[in-house]
Amino acid sequence: TRPIRIAPSILSADFSRLGEEVAAIDAAGADYIHVDVMDGHFVPNISFGPLVMASVRKITSKPFDVHLMIAPVDLYIPAFARAGADIITVHVEAGPHLHRTIQAIKAEGKKAGVAINPATPVSALENVIGDIDLLLIMSVNPGFGGQSFIPESLNKLRQARALIGDRAIDLEVDGGITPDNARAVAEAGANVFVAGSSVYGGNDAATYAPRIAAIRTA
Ligand code: DX5
Ligand code: ZN
Repeated sequence: TRPIRIAPSILSADFSRLGEEVAAIDAAGADYIHVDVMDGHFVPNISFGPLVMASVRKITSKPFDVHLMIAPVDLYIPAFARAGADIITVHVEAGPHLHRTIQAIKAEGKKAGVAINPATPVSALENVIGDIDLLLIMSVNPGFGGQSFIPESLNKLRQARALIGDRAIDLEVDGGITPDNARAVAEAGANVFVAGSSVYGGNDAATYAPRIAAIRTA
């Protein structure tokens, strides 16, 4: 199985101190920096784009795990690649030409991820599984931090793990992850854990290391 990675989401950071908040999770043991990009169209919320991302890129050398909740998406892939993305994840629901989108990410020399919403079956990825580096199961409806984990996601993680088989693909889970459910999620097959409010809640940097450790050791 693949190594466990904790990916705190900067969506729950204090944006007025974004650079410090990124430095703090780096120091606290984050493996990836999860960057949630929302367009007010694919999801009912707006976060930030490549300019903001580029300015925090210089704060840390940790990989940027960029989750694009935008449609259309192809047009913006080069900008996120230039802004310092290491993994670019797009939604299967965001457009009719997922295969082309994956190729566009690879053409930028970046790792390609594909995310599916709670109502989308894992089978939607059967025909691209050989082309991707990361599969992301959304365990909440995307758009906001701080929502509750949808229990059916555990079944989907097991199905995704079976689909991945022995391929070198990370299985990421995003939404409502806490120390209380991280063990069940890991047993269902996930190895990359996004955590927004359970790391950044309260925005007190002194708590980030124990909060990341609590998810990792769960
Ligand atoms: C939801 C985002 C998530 C979110 C996770 O649209 O993709 O990454 O920030 O936040 P929590 O961990 O609070 O559910
Ligand atoms: Zn996300």
